[in-house]
Amino acid sequence: MTLRLVAGATSWDIKAHCAMTILVTGGAGFIGSHVVRRLVQRYRDYTILNLDALTYAGNLENLKDIENAPNYVFLKGNLLDKGCIDDVFGSYSVDGIIHLAAESHVDRSISGPSAFVQTNIQGTVNLLEAARAAWKDGQGKRFYHISTDEVFGSLGQEGRFDENSPYTPNSPYAASKAAADHFVRAYGTTYGLPYIISNCSNNYGPNQFPEKLIPLLINNIVNHEKLPLYGEGKNIRDWLYVEDHAAAIDQVFHQGTIGETYCIGGGNEWENLELARLLCSLMDKKLQHAEGSSEKLITFVGDRPGHDLRYAIDDSKIRRELGWKPSVDFAEGLERTVNWYLQNTRWLSHVTSGAYQEYYEKMYSGRDHRRNTPS
Ligand code: NAD
Ligand code: DAU
Repeated sequence: MTLRLVAGATSWDIKAHCAMTILVTGGAGFIGSHVVRRLVQRYRDYTILNLDALTYAGNLENLKDIENAPNYVFLKGNLLDKGCIDDVFGSYSVDGIIHLAAESHVDRSISGPSAFVQTNIQGTVNLLEAARAAWKDGQGKRFYHISTDEVFGSLGQEGRFDENSPYTPNSPYAASKAAADHFVRAYGTTYGLPYIISNCSNNYGPNQFPEKLIPLLINNIVNHEKLPLYGEGKNIRDWLYVEDHAAAIDQVFHQGTIGETYCIGGGNEWENLELARLLCSLMDKKLQHAEGSSEKLITFVGDRPGHDLRYAIDDSKIRRELGWKPSVDFAEGLERTVNWYLQNTRWLSHVTSGAYQEYYEKMYSGRDHRRNTPS
């Protein structure tokens, strides 16, 4: 079956689609939960379907406040189960897909790449196939694939990634996301599937699973545990508040041009050690600890194999074409994030019990190589 793009029909008019049904995958995860909430609250005429397998990273507590909204439907299902995806398309007339479901943690991809090949590549292909089968000519539809800047590999001290950067993925996670991006593009070229891709930098904010740097540090500070920094703590990431990413996704979905890629970033580069120090100082104030006490917990540990040195995004295309820009500065975003974790101790203790303890032990025990005295 070949879908055809209608010339000129590249951008959606929201008003012409007032009763759309949008399928969000991975909506119970970190970024997905912010995207689902935003869509449910902003577009009352839409039906928002959230398809999620509820892996260790998926958590319906993230969506407690909107679970009874009349325009929201949760569907528990796995992208690896083709029958389940077919059921979704058989039961609903899906107008658009925002595909976030993925295995998302680089360290887990290093210890077990297969799950990443399965969900990120095969799961994406299963979803593409279902969309191709359901969308006879593709007109008025769109498949929006959420990807990462990690597909572009690592930067040195200079330069930034943009939409023309070559793909050079280094980790199994990045390789699986790169493969998924290629499949999405291939479905556009080969079958005319109307797609958009965005590649975003590191997100932070409420609901992030504490395997990722910022919530892991917050949780460890609360529990007076060591703060593990890989290598020398010199790696650099470009941090974006998750609600700004959700706003960008909303805008790209509605106003982006079919067949285009958009790079999304925070313009907010931080060396890991400097970020950890900032967080320690903020947490000392919040927890009324003596100034400098959390920083003493910083511990350099064995490096992540293949650790990308630096990510940074040139987001001028999305700024210029869609008028998006980040709205939450880092001081404010970090404070909101810390406040959220301190106020949501039930959420934190729930996700850090059981399997998390095993994960943490496996990932970090025996990894210390130098106790830090930050200079
Ligand atoms: P997350 O790990 O917090 O959430 C992933 C969600 O996908 C979970 O709810 C999980 O249950 C679900 N899921 C996993 N496997 C599934 C499967 N086989 N079938 C159905 N559902 C499944 O991830 P996140 O950090 O919110 O990232 C979401 C997306 O954004 C990912 O595609 C990721 O690659 C991309 N991304 C993340 C960041 C970041 O900083 N976190 C930055 C750029 C891009
Ligand atoms: O750039 C976008 C990507 O950002 C997303 O595609 C990924 O899904 C997301 O997980 C994130 O990947 P990173 O590997 O950059 O994020 P993480 O939080 O795992 O690590 C951030 C930096 O902190 C990185 O340089 C590794 C370092 N780190 C991480 C952990 C968990 C540590 O030094 N110690 C740690 O314990």
